[in-house]
Amino acid sequence: MAVLVTGGAGYIGSHTAVALHEAGRKVVLLDNFDNSSPAAVDAIRALTTSDMTFVEGDLRDRSVLDHIFETHDIDEVVHFAAHKAVGESVTIPLDYYGNNLGSTIGLAGAMVEHGVRKLVFSSSCTVYGQPGTIPVTEDAPTGAESPYGWTKFMSEQILRDVAAAADLDVVLLRYFNPVGAHESGTLGEDPNGIPNNLVPYVMQVAVGRLEEVGVFGGDYNTPDGSGVRDYIHVVDLAEGHVAALDALDGSLQGACTAVNLGTGVGSSVLEVISAASDAVGAPIAYEIVDRRPGDIEQIYADPAYAKEVLGWESTRDLATMMRDHWNWQRQNPNGFGG
Ligand code: NAD
Ligand code: WQD
Repeated sequence: MAVLVTGGAGYIGSHTAVALHEAGRKVVLLDNFDNSSPAAVDAIRALTTSDMTFVEGDLRDRSVLDHIFETHDIDEVVHFAAHKAVGESVTIPLDYYGNNLGSTIGLAGAMVEHGVRKLVFSSSCTVYGQPGTIPVTEDAPTGAESPYGWTKFMSEQILRDVAAAADLDVVLLRYFNPVGAHESGTLGEDPNGIPNNLVPYVMQVAVGRLEEVGVFGGDYNTPDGSGVRDYIHVVDLAEGHVAALDALDGSLQGACTAVNLGTGVGSSVLEVISAASDAVGAPIAYEIVDRRPGDIEQIYADPAYAKEVLGWESTRDLATMMRDHWNWQRQNPNGFGG
């Protein structure tokens, strides 16, 4: 039997493909390279097996899914494929609703029709919006503040409804802030254009592609005034998916369950820049600038439920995240483009 990984050439999907392979699972990858490149598939194959199955195609194309389910013995799916840029989603909302909801609906329909029962879905801490209480537990109120966020909120609801109506078991994994890279330095995050996210931006400053980091706000009600997030190593996150698939055979069978994947540790922007400087071995230029509209002050996960139901917890600290992200960026200053 095999696991289908949608968005398998992307940042988190590629690391999860490697973790699934290491856990002894057979993997089939699907991606349309909308936000990734064939070089990522080569890198996955170099770390796993040269004949790992990769299908280039769009998840919204039902014939692609039918073909995969008919030709491979798929019994479980990890669904990463989505557009993910919050700001862009405000500008082109229909692209986001069309792709992210179209993919989830198409996939769920094909799974039900082909009798595939186990699904792990990439959700996000964005569904907590401005959290009332931190650390955030899974029963906190959910909603959204961008079209991207709504696609995650709505996908969760769609999957809850399908799970109740059909024989589909689902884990909704709410990721906090994934950073870092595979320790080999051959697989990592390769954003298009100027990065929106903090750590890719910091690393591009470190490698000389950008001038300095703008720290969005120095007057928040946090220990050093900059925003606080729960950064999690992408390999810890990948291992969380293996644990979630295992749990679908055990404690989470017959349900649709939301689980946080975070470390439970909040780090400020200035702490991240300092940890990155230590990893790089040189200061990273930054300047405190205005707050970014829509940003939240601080959020981090309560990871207790993940430990309870998945038997999983993160093991890699911020220094390791920065070491590995830098190792990837240093070896690949222009990402998969060379
Ligand atoms: P990514 O863009 O690197 O990977 C997504 C992959 O899906 C890309 O390779 C893209 O080409 C592919 N894809 C998109 N639409 C597709 C379609 N219709 N058919 C086939 N392939 C398609 O993003 P990522 O950071 O790896 O994120 C993976 C998932 O995790 C996404 O669902 C994202 O919303 C979610 N998530 C990401 C973060 C984060 O900060 N990276 C945080 C929380 C949740
Ligand atoms: C982190 C911190 C910024 C860039 C986003 C999505 C969320 C989820 C995770 C997908 C904040 C600060 C950033 C910069 C800065 N993704 N920052 N200078 O905003 O927590 O969440 O990614 O589901 O939905 O919104 O991540 O990396 O953009 O920001 O000071 O150049 O770094 O203000 O405090 P964020 P981020």
